[in-house]
Formats: sequence, structure tokens, C-alpha cells
Amino acid sequence: MIKSVGIVGWRGMVGSVLMKRMREENDFSLINPVFFSSSNVGGHAPDWADGADKLKDSYDVNELKKLPIILTAQGGDYTTEIHTKLRQIGWDGIWIDAASSLRMEDNSIIVLDPVNRSVIDNALRKGIRDFIGGNCTVSCMLMGLSGLFKHNLVDWVSSMTYQAASGGGAQHMRELLNQFGIINGSVNELLQDTASAILEIDREVLKIQQSSDFPSPHFGVPLGGSLIPWIDKDLGNGMSREEWKAEVETNKILGNAKNSKDSIQVDGICVRIGAMRCHSQALTIKLKKDIPIKEIEEIIDGGSSWSKVIPNNKEDSVTKLTPIAVAGTLDIPVGRLRKLSMGPQYLSAFTVGDQLLWGAAEPLRRMLRIALGQA
Ligand code: HSE
Repeated sequence: MIKSVGIVGWRGMVGSVLMKRMREENDFSLINPVFFSSSNVGGHAPDWADGADKLKDSYDVNELKKLPIILTAQGGDYTTEIHTKLRQIGWDGIWIDAASSLRMEDNSIIVLDPVNRSVIDNALRKGIRDFIGGNCTVSCMLMGLSGLFKHNLVDWVSSMTYQAASGGGAQHMRELLNQFGIINGSVNELLQDTASAILEIDREVLKIQQSSDFPSPHFGVPLGGSLIPWIDKDLGNGMSREEWKAEVETNKILGNAKNSKDSIQVDGICVRIGAMRCHSQALTIKLKKDIPIKEIEEIIDGGSSWSKVIPNNKEDSVTKLTPIAVAGTLDIPVGRLRKLSMGPQYLSAFTVGDQLLWGAAEPLRRMLRIALGQA
């Protein structure tokens, strides 16, 4: 029998990408979708969802509890409130969620099935019911390097990130573009005049970026023409919450028990840059043994259907290993692979991933298929 699936938060940025991917992959033919809304209860379900009922109230636990599966991209506050209420009243359906709230709970699984399908299958067998998408940077890194992890070649990883505006949300992307526009507008005349002095343009740009009128309510500080070397909360120990996620989530995804001998150290600095929707990372990887670069390339390329080794030369790197080359695709290119001067076990890599796809929507729609027994 076709299962009913509650769909919440489908209109936001991640939700919209999720709906698009589900339509592309014909996932709606496998379910009876029940759409929820907090702002338009009783409104029409989306045009493309033939026969779906009118929108139900996403805060109505009595409606939600009727469903065997709920898929949400509504955000952390919603999860904290509604998931708790549903479990309290004994709802034992499958909860599939994009938010971070439940990720590190003991009875949740972080889903990234090309990397941890066995962890997911074991959890389903054991009756675990909460399946949560991982942090975007972690998921994209693991999708790129899964071959190395599968071959048990990774001793530790240091990851220096270049994270796109979309990680903050839709408003953050708008803010970045507004900032670029204002910067350009402030020096437009000087730019048109080929005889103008670049240092004068630079002074004007800095003046506008430093002005208290420069709009940065979402990021809090200017990003356009700059960068922000801190993402998410300050944990008070010199580490950002985004940096903390790298190690704990990587190990949880890989099924490595906390503080066990299998646990892999992953640490670095997370930085916001002015890209739109692709997160990039420069990685230093300490390998467990010295193996030839050719073999490493084959292992990374074969890690998943989406990891792609980019030859380590200038032309391929600047054209195929950039946010612009990757945006809107499921490819996870991995390039700049070479042994570092620290020794033959030290490998460099650079990888890029669309944080709205593998970093958010894709693992969720794939988890839905697994929960339905269709993958
Ligand atoms: N924390 C990420 C970021 C968002 O700010 O880029 C996706 O997990």
C-alpha cells in the first residue's frame, strides 16, 4: 500500500530544492504526500502534486501523528517543538529532518547513504526512527573522500572551509548580492573612467564597507568583498560550533563509537566567503600509510558515483573545481591532490559541493526511499 508522507517546510530554500529533486526522481509516485504549512493552512497543495489535500497545519500534532513518515525542512525550532510533542504522545513514525537539533542525539542517525548505508540499515532493524541530514560541509567532504574512509586510509583530516552564503539561508544570499551591488554602485563612475586611480576606488570601497549604513543585518558584518572567519555559535573554547560538528558528525556518520580507537580526528577553521551555494574545503589528510598518488586518485574516484577526481593542473582546477562549476549539480569534484612536503603520508585535497544538494536535500530524499523500501 502506498504510504502517506507528511511534508513540512517544503516552500523554504532547502524545501524547494528537495521538492525539485523529488519531482526529478519521480519520488512522488511512491507516496501519498500530505502537505503542511504554518502560514497558509487550508490553502492549495502545490499544482504539481495531483490530488493532494489542502494544506494542513504544521503545528497540529493530531494531524501529524496520523502519518507513518514525516519529512521536514522547516528548521531547528520547529523540530525541537514538534518532534518532542509527537514522541511524547507516542508517535512512532519515521522522522526525516534537515535541521541539526536531533543530529547528535543517541537515538538518531545522520543520513548519508552512499557513505553509511549499513549504519542506516542497522538502525532501521533496531527500530530507530529519527533520520537526520548532516552538516553540509561534513556531508560534502565525506561524499568526496568516501573512498579513502572505506579503505581505512585516513589517520586524521584538517579541513579549512570556504562556505557559501546559502549556508546562512536565503536572506543571507540576498544580503551578499545587495552588498556587491552597493559596492559596485559606490564606485561605478570611477570604474567607467579607465584613467581613474585604483587606490582611490579601493579607498571608496573600504569607506562604504566600513560605513554603519552598509547593510549586513543577517551576517552581522560585511561579507561582500571580505570574508568572515567564524560560522555558527562561539563555544567559548576558541572553537566555533561549525568546527565542532566536523569531527563529531564525521564519526557518527561513519558509525565510529565516541572516543573509540576507530574515531578519526577532523578539525580546522570554518570561513564564510562570498560564494552563492557551494561550500569548498582545502584539506590536509594524514594517511595511515604511504600509497602512490595514482592509487589514491583511483580510490577517491571510485568512492561513490558522484566523487570525481580533477587532475591537479591549473587549467582543470580553475575550470572544474569551483563553486560556479559545481552549483546545481550532484558532482563532488576532488582535486589539488598531491603529497605535501611534510612527508609521503600527508596529502592535500580541495573539494567543492553544492550545499543545497548533497549538503541538505539529497540525503533526505534518498532516506525517504530507503524508509519506503524503495532503494
Ligand atoms: N552550517 C552551515 C553553514 C549550513 O552555515 O554553512 C548547513 O549545514
